[in-house]
Amino acid sequence: MTQYEKIQQQLVNEPKVWLVTGVAGFIGSNLLEKLLLLNQKVIGLDNFATGHQHNIDEVQGLVSDTQWDRFTFIEGDIRDYKTCQLAVKGVDYVLHEAALGSVPRSINDPLTTDAVNISGFLNMLTAAKEEKVKSFTYAASSSTYGDHPALPKVEENIGNPLSPYAVTKYVNELYAGVFASTYNFKTIGLRYFNVFGKRQDPNGAYAAVIPKWTAAMINGDDVVINGDGETSRDFCFIENTVQMNILAATAPDEAKDQVYNVAVGDRTTLNELYDAIKLAINDCSIFVLSEKKYLDFRVGDVRHSQADISKANEKLKYIPEFKIVDGIKKSMPWYIDFLK
Ligand SMILES: NC(=O)c1ccc[n+]([C@@H]2O[C@H](COP(=O)([O-])OP(=O)(O)OC[C@H]3O[C@@H](n4cnc5c(N)ncnc54)[C@H](O)[C@@H]3O)[C@@H](O)[C@H]2O)c1
Repeated sequence: MTQYEKIQQQLVNEPKVWLVTGVAGFIGSNLLEKLLLLNQKVIGLDNFATGHQHNIDEVQGLVSDTQWDRFTFIEGDIRDYKTCQLAVKGVDYVLHEAALGSVPRSINDPLTTDAVNISGFLNMLTAAKEEKVKSFTYAASSSTYGDHPALPKVEENIGNPLSPYAVTKYVNELYAGVFASTYNFKTIGLRYFNVFGKRQDPNGAYAAVIPKWTAAMINGDDVVINGDGETSRDFCFIENTVQMNILAATAPDEAKDQVYNVAVGDRTTLNELYDAIKLAINDCSIFVLSEKKYLDFRVGDVRHSQADISKANEKLKYIPEFKIVDGIKKSMPWYIDFLK
């Protein structure tokens, strides 16, 4: 039995109270789905800045009525401290996902990204500490590696941030460290590497590459590649990310006050990604007509990214269950249904 299977069994036997911030978003709604299926009590917080009611509604359709009754939703903003205090009341485990993602968004509007990702984070961290929650796990980011050239990325070797977004995610880690040393409030930061899967928004100017390209190919539009297509990423299927959140939330004290890479440990170029998405769509009997169009490199983008996941494996017993191609295949029916 894996550690993940063991923890899931324990949670079913002894359900806990969870707070998921950003619950209407991509990662948050997938965490909600998993936790409700494990019969947990979940409080969700979101202000719908980038999340959607339809993500929450979809989860309702995937769980039983009894499981759904264990969910309470608070519509509110993490920039408001009182809202954060209300959300953490009686909570065992906090999974803090709410933030404004996207490097280009942060370049266009650094002030709002800063307010949500730094002040909002500090509000949540403080409220959780005051409530004496059992654990606080937060969404950090691989963007913290910045311009550090080494591959694969090892947690302790980071460079200079390349965007306002990367600054905010690094400041989260600094605050987390200070809360451990100053207040003995020990958290876990999860440095996500390009997470993808169902309910990741394909629409809008700041859509992530996999949902954006999937939508373009299904709709018959050309696919725009920034740069020469040899830029690479360690794409991580959502179910691996959910596993890491559950392992982190329930981790022993000695695994806390740490950050962990959340990825697979593989590297896929954008050209390879294009082929993988096209194949998965073709497998669903949809013939892809779109072509690749190469544009300039994008400001703030890191050239290559690949994680070393041995720390997560050693300390949290994390074993990613899905490689990129399996994840893309699993996501495709959802996208086809969502976009039709
Ligand atoms: N998806 C990725 O590949 C990736 C990679 C690295 C880090 N992350 C981080 O993971 C977290 C979740 O990302 P996601 O991909 O699910 O994005 P998402 O945009 O789908 O989800 C973020 C959620 O937070 C909510 N939110 C934003 N501002 C808020 C506020 N002020 N108050 C309350 N709620 C607010 C949004 O409405 C949304 O529902 C974010 O912290 C993001 O920075 C994601």
